[in-house]
Amino acid sequence: MNYSMFQCPRDIIYGEDAVDLTGAKSLKLGKRVLIVTGKHSSKKTGALDRVSDSLKKSGLEYVIFDKVESDPSVNTVRLGVETAKEKNIDVIVALGGGSALDAAKAISMVSTNGGDILDYEKKAPEIEGIPIVALPTTAGTGSEVTKYSIITDTERKIKMLIGNDFLIPKVAILDPNLTKMMPPSVTAATGMDAFTHAVEAYISKAAQPMCDVYAVKAIELITSNLIKAVLKEDDMEARSNMLLGQMYAGLAFSNASVALVHAMSRPLGAYYKVPHGLANALLLPEVMRFNRAACSEKFKFIAKTMGENIEGKSTREASYLAIESIKNLFSETGLPKSLKEVGVDKDNFDKMAKDAVENKSTTLNPRKPTLGQLIEIYETIY
Ligand SMILES: [Fe+2]
Repeated sequence: MNYSMFQCPRDIIYGEDAVDLTGAKSLKLGKRVLIVTGKHSSKKTGALDRVSDSLKKSGLEYVIFDKVESDPSVNTVRLGVETAKEKNIDVIVALGGGSALDAAKAISMVSTNGGDILDYEKKAPEIEGIPIVALPTTAGTGSEVTKYSIITDTERKIKMLIGNDFLIPKVAILDPNLTKMMPPSVTAATGMDAFTHAVEAYISKAAQPMCDVYAVKAIELITSNLIKAVLKEDDMEARSNMLLGQMYAGLAFSNASVALVHAMSRPLGAYYKVPHGLANALLLPEVMRFNRAACSEKFKFIAKTMGENIEGKSTREASYLAIESIKNLFSETGLPKSLKEVGVDKDNFDKMAKDAVENKSTTLNPRKPTLGQLIEIYETIY
């Protein structure tokens, strides 16, 4: 049997002021709401007030769980599960960047399936979690539409990738106004994360036509809007397009997987707390150079999608243009340019490469790397 499958939330709502639908959508799923969010930003930006007001208007009771740190830990998930059980929660509103959304998904899954979050590193959940209404406040992870959650085990210094259909939120609400307060460095890093999702979904061994449509559109939208959104906080057209683009990228990689960039960036987060988007951005050009020959036709199309003139060029020439274009995009974001600049030292390259080579995302990379090649990539961008 050879088939493709495409999964996504039941409702995806996109547009300015869509946040005001949170109450009405949650009401269809339950009565007692747990808002899962970060410690500060959703309060500072007013996003939490907008969500709370909408829930109140729909007559819903809610409890706020605002303990999610960046790179949420197993302990945060445990605390969230305790709160959800204590308060008899039957719907979760996830509000924030990828961290808040990922924590909410893990809390939802463990609350109904039982056990501890660590159990799910190896086993799959058997039943639906508490239904989730997800509202992203950054434009990057696409977590509001994906089946993935990344939870950090701080003791083992491992970022656990948990992937399951039951983790897909029921409703995704994308309101560009919620992303307005993102500082330029966060816009840049999360935007490069989304760009990486699109590229990796497009070239991964699990790529399929239903995902390609979204991946290619995401590459196009992000290429033409990322720098505008970084340079001008209130460019709402650019912000809206970035939010849409990162959601498309989320749909693509949730159904077609990411690849080597993500496998190599997770150890950078686990060992050195390099923000996920920044780690991907640093790795992407060099990993693409490594992958180019294995999928040059696709690289040619990426170059075209990014606006490069490929007319009269051979596949080989055009595929190199894709790498150049990606390098230029990364350079214009103003993000740090080397691992050294972000506080990484060479001591752990061996261990990090070992983690990456064993990572599931590596098996779906178009070119199979050796341990030595991964160390070389880390060294090149050092
Ligand atoms: Fe990512």
